[in-house]
Amino acid sequence: MATTKTREVPTGRVSDLIAAEEDRFRQARPRSHQLWTEAREALPRGVPSSFQDAAPQPIFMDRGKGSRVWDVDGNEYVDFHNGFGVMVVGHAHPKIVEAVRRRIELGSHFAQPVEDDIVVARELARRFGQPRWRFTNSGTESTLDAVRIARGFTGRDRLIKIEASYHGHHDALMVSVEPPPDRMGPPDQPASFPQSEGIPRAVVELTTVVPFNDVPALERAFAAHPGEVAAVIVEPAMMNVGIVLPDTGYLDKIKDLVHKHGALLIFDEVKTGVTIAPGGATERFHVAPDLVALAKAIGGGLPCGAVGGRDDVMGVIEEKRVAQMGTFNGNPLTMAASKTTLLEILDAKAYAHFDALAETLQGGLDEAIGHHELPFHVITLAARGGVTYRAQRVRNYRDYLEIDKTLSYLSWLYQSNRGVLMAPGAEENWTLSVQHSVDDVQRYVDNFTEMARDLRQ
Ligand SMILES: Cc1ncc(COP(=O)(O)O)c(C=O)c1O
Repeated sequence: MATTKTREVPTGRVSDLIAAEEDRFRQARPRSHQLWTEAREALPRGVPSSFQDAAPQPIFMDRGKGSRVWDVDGNEYVDFHNGFGVMVVGHAHPKIVEAVRRRIELGSHFAQPVEDDIVVARELARRFGQPRWRFTNSGTESTLDAVRIARGFTGRDRLIKIEASYHGHHDALMVSVEPPPDRMGPPDQPASFPQSEGIPRAVVELTTVVPFNDVPALERAFAAHPGEVAAVIVEPAMMNVGIVLPDTGYLDKIKDLVHKHGALLIFDEVKTGVTIAPGGATERFHVAPDLVALAKAIGGGLPCGAVGGRDDVMGVIEEKRVAQMGTFNGNPLTMAASKTTLLEILDAKAYAHFDALAETLQGGLDEAIGHHELPFHVITLAARGGVTYRAQRVRNYRDYLEIDKTLSYLSWLYQSNRGVLMAPGAEENWTLSVQHSVDDVQRYVDNFTEMARDLRQ
């Protein structure tokens, strides 16, 4: 934690600052507003994915190069959003541009295997210690396949997931992603809340929800459903409610418990994979699951995904017991970009660079927080990190609910208005790229320091 002495932030001050920043935000983005108005005629809420519908209005983008992006109004930003954590290679990386150009000239799609499939699968095996892989096109498909493989392997139907983990938008796991307080049930035995209409109740009832960092709750969930559980799926470090780190030993303990009950452990490393260490959370926390779901950063900016696992578990595909398929799986463009990302860009130097940038961010932000006695703290994990607007560590969703979300919104506005693009949403966290410089990350620190000072005026 940055400081032991903190003082509360007056809420009136936060709302005054938000009003001024929203005004400034809108004034600088008339073209985005116009496009959004037009888009709403053709696209529900004016966006292609509901995640992109963020207050005060979506920002329509024009282009990106290196660590920077430009919106349609000509505003330039250092990109900390990086396409929800995809662009760790930075924008238009010359090696990716070259690899994709070379590949597209030779044909972009065959729905037949290509040699690069083998190269990428072997590199993922080396990084994550899982011998066998299949490709998908998104994180959603990767967790969907992981779940089906686990169900096929165990012959069981029930899943256990963590309250407030997001694993993509398929039915089985769109359960208690951000349940409303009046529907979420007691903290030690959360309810299974369907996160969208259109999800059959029968599917929701097959997904049991437990709190993160709570081994006894997981034990109780197994006891309540003896012999029924196919898999426990976790984000080994939660990254959709800020960043929530596992307690020391938590991942080991749940692995033992899961195996004791004949189930499988699935790590959803869609966000942590190749960003917090070369081999993701598996490497960083020294725990190997039975199945790993990947996507986002492994594809260098092309739509991608992969699911990897133990020989015997992935054997259900080999034996044709479980169907894993897709027209675009192992698409040659994606594989070319992925191979270049993994073999030529995300090398040891890249991870040392992330660590150095993280140190600058941590040091600068800790100083501002300490100086202004703010009840916030900072977490950095190589290319990922974020500010938590609460003095105490967050261990689970119920802790996260105690955070005043207006502060993260204010921070998002401050950064947007001063040339740093963050992912929208209260769960603010950043993704750095190999093309970010110390000056780039210093801009985030300077903007944050300005906000900290303004909060105290
Ligand atoms: C942990 C995690 N799993 C899965 C997904 C779904 O990935 P996609 O949006 O590629 O379907 C996400 C998306 O943010 C995620 O954060």
